[in-house]
Amino acid sequence: MSIAVLDFGGQYAHLIANRIRRLHAYARICSPQVSLDELKGVRGLILSGGPSSVYDPAQPPYNPALFDAGLPILGLCYGHQLLCQHLGGEVEPGQTREFGAARLQLKQAQGVLKGLESEERVWMSHQDTVSRLPAGFEVLGSTADCAMAAVYDPARRIYGLQFHPEVSHTVNGLRILENFVELCGCPRDWTMDHYLEEQAAELRLQTAGRKVFLLVSGGVDSSVAFLMLNRILGEDRVMGLHIDNGFMRHNETATVRRLLTDSGFANLHVVDASAEFLAAVEGVVDPEEKRRRIGTQFIRTRDRALEELKLDPEEWLLGQGTLYTDTIESGGTAHAAVIKTHHNRVDLIEKLLAEGKVIEPLAQLYKDEARELGEKLGLPHHLVWRHPFPGPGLAVRTLCSAGKTDWEGVEEAQGRAASIAARFGLQVEILPLRSVGVQGDGRTYAHPALVWGEAQWPALEELSTELTNAIPKINRVVYLLGPVPRPVQHLKPAYLTRQRLALLRRADSLAMAALEQHGLMQEVTQMPTVLVPLSSDGIHESVVLRPISTDDFMTARFSALPQTFVSDICRQLLEVEGIEAVFYDVTHKPPGTVEWE
Ligand code: XMP
Repeated sequence: MSIAVLDFGGQYAHLIANRIRRLHAYARICSPQVSLDELKGVRGLILSGGPSSVYDPAQPPYNPALFDAGLPILGLCYGHQLLCQHLGGEVEPGQTREFGAARLQLKQAQGVLKGLESEERVWMSHQDTVSRLPAGFEVLGSTADCAMAAVYDPARRIYGLQFHPEVSHTVNGLRILENFVELCGCPRDWTMDHYLEEQAAELRLQTAGRKVFLLVSGGVDSSVAFLMLNRILGEDRVMGLHIDNGFMRHNETATVRRLLTDSGFANLHVVDASAEFLAAVEGVVDPEEKRRRIGTQFIRTRDRALEELKLDPEEWLLGQGTLYTDTIESGGTAHAAVIKTHHNRVDLIEKLLAEGKVIEPLAQLYKDEARELGEKLGLPHHLVWRHPFPGPGLAVRTLCSAGKTDWEGVEEAQGRAASIAARFGLQVEILPLRSVGVQGDGRTYAHPALVWGEAQWPALEELSTELTNAIPKINRVVYLLGPVPRPVQHLKPAYLTRQRLALLRRADSLAMAALEQHGLMQEVTQMPTVLVPLSSDGIHESVVLRPISTDDFMTARFSALPQTFVSDICRQLLEVEGIEAVFYDVTHKPPGTVEWE
């Protein structure tokens, strides 16, 4: 018996299933067109969010009979709007833009909101709003910008929530989902052991006697996948390939080799392909193009390694430690938007996937589940809990520029930003470069705003949310840590070169060492350091610190770290030859993604 999650293409659709599994109930992802026959054994339906508006002619088709099946229904975000509209209510398009934290005032602590406080912190990401309820519905709760944020029809057990209970930043979100699982009467006996058993059977079927050549970056995902494949298939049917792509952190390849060999892995092969990778991205500025070229180069390097090791490519399938997050952000489900193309989801790999030549034993899991599996399989604790590091590494943290940017409409936005910042006693300038963000389940590629002046974290958080909600040209906010006064900077032409990578590597290594020294390694989940080509003299550059905390990476909060750490790392970075300014990213996800590219 299970809960069915109907996937309308929302970034968090699969996360709902992850959360239900955490409650030890079983959840399946289904198409919104699923027939009632296929839903045998299903005790309740959850309608996910999605990038569309109910007014979009291209909105995903769904089976209307689902609403009459008598099953309890929980609609989230787009799912909430869809069910209200379908059942006779009304949705107003593009009325409010609300991304990030909001406060839900409860009118009734009933049904899925049972046991909650009168005010709850919830996570929003929407533009359309329900403006009239269908017959039989009542309001359970509202936010300042959304009167019908939580609604229900008690007779039919249908619930609609404009916010996302599945993301951990909705503080009592899991409680809400638990209430739903309970009211569906779904049993709670699912465990990670079931996953291992299912995967073992599936892997044997999919490999059909063939072997797996697994790309091992040394991060938790590929290490867990390596261990799992070694366990299930045996060491002689698995080979790990660690590629030094030249975009690694200081000493990374040596550390990975040591960590994995210390953990008893003998079947690991290491190659240095930094020259090829650097050549592949020469002159590239666009982040997506960079990601595609790097992903493609991984496969070329793998092919060359197979050749050198004289292994038959027909006999050796490609293995990757891909998680579900990589797939969804790369637009890998039926209705999802491409936020960024992860290195393990480029065209060449999609082609191999379609041919059934890729083995991804973690593809249904999130980072927290991969870690749980790692612990279960006996991977050393320090490997399981390493900060994640993306496949394209420092390459997607080294922003490139041809020296010009698209400034259309930015001047007008600058005026509005200045008047918002003035209310906080701060100054602001929209920066002449762009970074990737995610808002309302879609990709954005917009400008960061730099703010400066005397400020504490709570005010910066509030300002950041206000600027990004009010001004579509801004999807990220950074705060100037130093120097004061601020240097007047311009965008300089800058590409991926060994020198710039070396500069970022030095900055990143100082930042990570400072985190360690200040005892903050556990406090933040990940802290990218980003090199941005903003310069007062056309030579020096700026760096951004991007500390975040999250457990699923689909949403994240920027970490408000102690002043002692902030002043220490700022001073150290400004002493590095080549760095002239240090910024601190104060943007949650949404609206900013973790990585800038
Ligand atoms: P974003 O920037 O999408 O990052 O908010 C979410 C998490 O994914 C990591 N990331 C990647 N990991 N290959 C990876 O293996 C990639 O291409 C990639 N891009 C982003 C990012 O570091 C963060 O942990």
